[in-house]
Amino acid sequence: MFAVKVPKREAEKTRRKLIELGVLAKSYSVKREGEFILFPVTGPVEGFEIVEAEFEKTKRRPHSYREVVEVPEEVRPLLPSSFDIIGDVAIIELPEKLMPYGKAIGEAILKVHRHIKAVFAKGSKIEGEYRVRELIRLAGERRTETLHRENGIRLRLDVAKVYFSPRLATERMRIFEKTQPGEIVFDMFAGVGPYSILLAKKAKLVFACDINPWAVRYLEENRKLNKMPNVVPILGDVRKIAGRIEADRVIMNLPKFADRFLREAMLSVKDGGIVHYYGFGPEENLFFEHEAKINGIAKGLGFHVEFLDERKVRPYAPRQFNIAIDFRVLK
Ligand SMILES: C[S@@+](CC[C@H](N)C(=O)[O-])C[C@H]1O[C@@H](n2cnc3c(N)ncnc32)[C@H](O)[C@@H]1O
Repeated sequence: MFAVKVPKREAEKTRRKLIELGVLAKSYSVKREGEFILFPVTGPVEGFEIVEAEFEKTKRRPHSYREVVEVPEEVRPLLPSSFDIIGDVAIIELPEKLMPYGKAIGEAILKVHRHIKAVFAKGSKIEGEYRVRELIRLAGERRTETLHRENGIRLRLDVAKVYFSPRLATERMRIFEKTQPGEIVFDMFAGVGPYSILLAKKAKLVFACDINPWAVRYLEENRKLNKMPNVVPILGDVRKIAGRIEADRVIMNLPKFADRFLREAMLSVKDGGIVHYYGFGPEENLFFEHEAKINGIAKGLGFHVEFLDERKVRPYAPRQFNIAIDFRVLK
């Protein structure tokens, strides 16, 4: 192929010029020949000495597992472009037709992403009271416990035993920014503590409740790991605790069933306190039904509600969104 030949001292200047002209053949490696440097180019370039030379293809590290995975061509378009990473564990959603190639997919992920040590496929939807899913091991270490870093905190958790979604990191930071120093926070569905521990950096006290004993075990551990003695883990059904706490801020991160706990949330917040409510809504009617429920429960208790903010948190299913509604309770 064509090459531009320049003395070594002119190499850097020439490289910049060739890039500027758009003629540098970037998929080939630059070559040294004695006191000269040879640049592979896509055609003759005016003002330079042009020679004929052979070049080696550049070795680029693949960016995606899809570049290295070996699967039949007909299923290749089905390969997901993304997957969740929790600590050093990857969790991928594979369509049925890709399941026979799960091992190859898992190994390709391990090969490309060196920090990932174990790969699992989603084996079911998020289910049950504990909001966990089945996982199918595809490749790597036989463990489901990991250490995840998010928003400057560390969270130890077992991806098979507790709920955790790394996709909520931005939403959690948003709530952190709204929290005022000295507040009392009630995290009704705390899981392993991603909200509780983050908010404890500002709040005076965070009551963190969960019904899943594994979640509370990790919450205890994470409280110590992050040195947050002002987090109070509570194991049990939040219905038994609600009304006994007077919080400035209540977090209801149980989108599937939060509407069933609105009464408990409103009874646990001070006059003028704020509730962060989560739910799921169809694209064409994201908030209306949730607002109606919130208003209905408030009315039944003789309270008023002031809506402060409503937003889409993330896509959940086709044309469905995880939504958030922040409201103030006036008693
Ligand atoms: C969607 S997860 C959210 C966990 C955590 N806030 C997070 O962001 O990772 C909901 C949590 O609520 C807990 N939960 C469900 N019903 C509950 C109840 N009645 N009382 C207390 N916790 C409950 C589940 O065990 C689960 O950990």
